[in-house]
Amino acid sequence: MNVLVVYAHPEPKSFNGAMKDLAVESLTRAGHDVVVSDLYAMGFNPAAGPGDIDGERNDREFFSLQREQTAAYEAGALAQDISVEIEKLRNADFVIFQFPVWWVGMPAILKGWADRVFARGFAYLPGRKYDTGMFKGKLAMVAATTGTSADTYAPDGIDGDISSIARVFGPTAPLSAARSSVQQSPGLKANGTNRGMPPARRTRLISPA
Ligand SMILES: Cc1cc2nc3c(=O)[nH]c(=O)nc-3n(C[C@H](O)[C@H](O)[C@H](O)COP(=O)(O)O)c2cc1C
Repeated sequence: MNVLVVYAHPEPKSFNGAMKDLAVESLTRAGHDVVVSDLYAMGFNPAAGPGDIDGERNDREFFSLQREQTAAYEAGALAQDISVEIEKLRNADFVIFQFPVWWVGMPAILKGWADRVFARGFAYLPGRKYDTGMFKGKLAMVAATTGTSADTYAPDGIDGDISSIARVFGPTAPLSAARSSVQQSPGLKANGTNRGMPPARRTRLISPA
């Protein structure tokens, strides 16, 4: 299988870094081809805007991101850093999103990756969302860590259902698949992580379930 790991954490020695390394090691050992988009290491620009279009814009008077994305995708005129990520996604059978929950969602660098790489025309179109999504047939897993305990992210928890942090990925693929990958990955969901965690506990938490 071709696996893409989209990883968003600024510190390689973090818990998220360890989870990413574990995923790469174990999937490679199992014979899969693994590619990592390490967004911080790449210095990925998360701010969608006119710079996303190479060359002539569709409309020079008014910038509509969706209209420009659609035209640029069709014309092969999306910025190089976006096209590279699109190619990785196109080749991937299985995508892992590895990130810490920051402010009840994903780090801005990953949200910006979605804004820019899930370009209209490539990732969605009218009638091509959720069950008819462009990425139907691909697998996705959200591997997110939280600082607070699991009960705060229970369906009736104060921070809301943990599945809500993966909603960004829903429209591009069947939502049920995105949801179940969050719920069925207890070994890759960790709560209460921090720098001072005893190494044995850290190892226990990142061991596959
Ligand atoms: C800016 C910021 C916002 C955060 N917001 C949340 C939050 O909303 N909910 C939560 O459970 N933890 C939150 N945390 C804690 C992180 O999720 C936690 O430290 C991280 O998952 C631990 O993984 P790491 O050791 O790889 O960084 C936040 C941390 C930071 C730095």
